[in-house]
Amino acid sequence: MAGREGFTIFHLSDIHYDGKNVEIFELSLEHLVEFSPEYVFITGDVVEDPKEDITAPAEMIREALKAVEDKSGITPVFRIVPGNHDFFFLGAYGIKRNGKFFRVFTEEEMGHYFSPDHLLTVFTFDSNYIYEPRGNLWRKFVQIMRPMTRGLIIERDLDEFSDWTRGLKRSENRNNYLKSFKIALVHHHPMPTSYNFLPKLADEGYMMLENAGVVMYRLIQEEFDLILHGHRHVPQFCRAVYFDEENIEREIAVLGCGSTSKKTDDKIRAVGHNFNVIKVDNNGSVTATQYIKRGTGTFIPGDKIIKIDMKKDEGGKRKKKGGSKKR
Ligand SMILES: [Fe+2]
Repeated sequence: MAGREGFTIFHLSDIHYDGKNVEIFELSLEHLVEFSPEYVFITGDVVEDPKEDITAPAEMIREALKAVEDKSGITPVFRIVPGNHDFFFLGAYGIKRNGKFFRVFTEEEMGHYFSPDHLLTVFTFDSNYIYEPRGNLWRKFVQIMRPMTRGLIIERDLDEFSDWTRGLKRSENRNNYLKSFKIALVHHHPMPTSYNFLPKLADEGYMMLENAGVVMYRLIQEEFDLILHGHRHVPQFCRAVYFDEENIEREIAVLGCGSTSKKTDDKIRAVGHNFNVIKVDNNGSVTATQYIKRGTGTFIPGDKIIKIDMKKDEGGKRKKKGGSKKR
């Protein structure tokens, strides 16, 4: 794709800062400075528990961004979405969301983003709502009774997504928006994680977005290319193919980051700590690398070759891929 400037995205997740895991978090930030990425995305769970001092990890992140600027002259664009541990006691309990996260991170840092130079669109979703405000009392009651670890993107935010993308399509940036690489940031899983691991609890349902189907539908219709998420602490990649309303095949990639720095437990011992580096070159080809740290070693690139295909032609229209047109 002509006219695009190449760039790098550094994706961290599930930092679970608790004051005792500073060393490994610092190590991941050293890698961040080394890569000097144009974009830094965090997909939630900055702290282990809302009672922790969230300003400490926030300052560490900002210092790393400043170090990138001092080293390479690049001022990284930083975007973050919250996770359940940023709001709820042990990530699971409480009837009200703790507000510290919103006081420490700025509206810009939590906001949506569009770059006509990099042809990049980023939409940030908060997936940690307790219940759907537009729901009836019974639905709210059932939702409140569930552990707060599971995810929900409320209808108001899905409407905001539609309004924001519609605004870009009506703006002078329409063509650049259509051509852009479109990424959604969210904490919870839009797709199940595949692993050979039996958790103590039958907790698959707590990992997923309660309304993953609706979220997928909106992202597919809007031709989003990639969803970045966290939550399960297992490095993960998959692709999904859906038919849109015009019966055209749409593919979306889902890259789940494991925990970057949570205190090691049995699961992390098995899968390692993780951050992802996503490179978009000026031809529009996208490659992601999972960096994994096991035991006392450092973060090293994993051997999976992850290609993410934008499938957009010069005019910004997505190329049809084996899809049949509606008759
Ligand atoms: Fe987490």
